[in-house]
Amino acid sequence: MGTIQLVSPDTESTIRIGRIIGQCLPRGSFIALEGVLGAGKTQFVKGIACGLDEGGWAGLRSPTFTLMLSYHGGRCVLHHIDFYRLNESPELPGEILEAIHSDRAIAVVEWADIWREVWPKHYIRIRFEIDEDTSKRRITIEDPNGICPAMAKDLEEFVVETADT
Ligand SMILES: Nc1ncnc2c1ncn2[C@@H]1O[C@H](COP(=O)(O)OP(=O)(O)O)[C@@H](O)[C@H]1O
Ligand SMILES: [Mg+2]
Repeated sequence: MGTIQLVSPDTESTIRIGRIIGQCLPRGSFIALEGVLGAGKTQFVKGIACGLDEGGWAGLRSPTFTLMLSYHGGRCVLHHIDFYRLNESPELPGEILEAIHSDRAIAVVEWADIWREVWPKHYIRIRFEIDEDTSKRRITIEDPNGICPAMAKDLEEFVVETADT
């Protein structure tokens, strides 16, 4: 398991971190985001969209009410999904399951821990924690296959800790 811990001092930095990760992600990636309301998950997804398509984040909205929003303008399709309102559902809608398991698109899921059992075999897990005193965000990235070295290098200025276990 590769783990890196970052600190993002402000909203812009969280978007920049997302952008760097978006540039490195291969097609078929599944990104599980965890963290309370207001932790910065949607800001981070703006960055991912930007990494796939410069300027592509301009229209990005939160999928809280629509469950899934898909963007087709970038180097590959981005499915932005939110499990929050699916908390009490007996099962996930088929189109969401398809999006999660697509080997062509990138799927990024807010509140992913609500439906841990549908995660594909390979995932990248990203947790957001708020430092109440400073409004900084601690962002922990876990990849069971190890953190991509090029990505870690590009994130260098934000990294506070790295571990490979
Ligand atoms: N370091 C930071 N990183 C991300 N967002 C931040 C940060 N500091 C303040 N914020 C603010 O916190 C809010 C995060 O909102 P959002 O990304 O919608 O959260 P979530 O999707 O996790 O509910 C935004 O208003 C953003 O401007
Ligand atoms: Mg959100």
